[in-house]
Amino acid sequence: MPDRDLLIGRLPKCELHIHIEGSLEPEMVLSLARRNGIRLPWDSVEALRRAYRFGSLQDFLDVYYVGMSVLVTEQDFYDLATAYLQRAHADNVVHVEMFFDPQGHTSRGIPFDTVVNGLFRACVDARETLGIQASLIMCFLRHLDEAGAHRTLDAALVHRDRIVGVGLDSSEKGNPPEKFRNVFRRARDAGFALFAHAGEEGPPNYVWQALDVLGVARVDHGNRALEDAALVARLARDRVPLTVCPLSNLRLRVVDDLKHHPLRHMMEKDLAVTVNSDDPAYFGGYVNDNFSAVVRALDLSAPEIVALARNSFSAAMMPEAERARALARFDAAVKGIGSE
Ligand code: ADE
Ligand code: ZN
Repeated sequence: MPDRDLLIGRLPKCELHIHIEGSLEPEMVLSLARRNGIRLPWDSVEALRRAYRFGSLQDFLDVYYVGMSVLVTEQDFYDLATAYLQRAHADNVVHVEMFFDPQGHTSRGIPFDTVVNGLFRACVDARETLGIQASLIMCFLRHLDEAGAHRTLDAALVHRDRIVGVGLDSSEKGNPPEKFRNVFRRARDAGFALFAHAGEEGPPNYVWQALDVLGVARVDHGNRALEDAALVARLARDRVPLTVCPLSNLRLRVVDDLKHHPLRHMMEKDLAVTVNSDDPAYFGGYVNDNFSAVVRALDLSAPEIVALARNSFSAAMMPEAERARALARFDAAVKGIGSE
């Protein structure tokens, strides 16, 4: 086996927890602000980077929503997603399920169609040019009310063939999954796959609600599930994937040091954990950076790295025949790397 960073780079992988607006790099924030005549509180890359010091999820969200205000035209959304997909391709990501926050745009008067058309066209083109498979998951902003989420779902139904799932993100504390019970039921009936952020800052009870009230297929983050042994047993029994984001957890103070990150405990408890970047432009790294940082901090072995990358294929939304082919390709790639 090559050294661990080389191994991380060589392994094919899926990214299942990336907010496309969180891949907006400072340089692009400034160039889109110029292109669209948007005034921002920051006038340089350095000033933006200085603003990226967060004490909590809310601190980050306050900057994130202002940052995304530079996205106006369909071309902006296309350029954003294309830049991310090129970056992900360089990390050997072969399959992406990309979150986007329509209410962060429609609330500023940007039509839902503008957002989806730009993002979707980028996904189609990336498949052609890079061979990367990418799909869209729209998130409801949980700090807003359920009526707004219903209106967002109405808009999404027009694009039913371009959006594979719905998720739940934004300020977790005080906004439990059950607040969105009815809109998730409608989304399920319309055939969307279901996801929710839970247990990032919120208590284990929010993870239970994501599972039992919303009926999600995966839990985004899920760190605080470890506080509840019965919940851990449930997640392990049902092989519910957790999309873990180490650098995000560090930068949002969910953990005080990556050496204390719960990833190893999650693996020991047989949870279906995957490694992802969340908001790479804000948290200092794309998916391979997240692997490298947590592998170093927790001293994970080569077989553990391989298991984490393999989990991403088991956790991805893909037809079973396609998953079997992807896993066979993954295993062949590991064998090839191992015999070097
Ligand atoms: N939106 C973007 N990133 C998020 C995160 N880490 N948690 C909740 N909402 C988000
Ligand atoms: Zn997230």
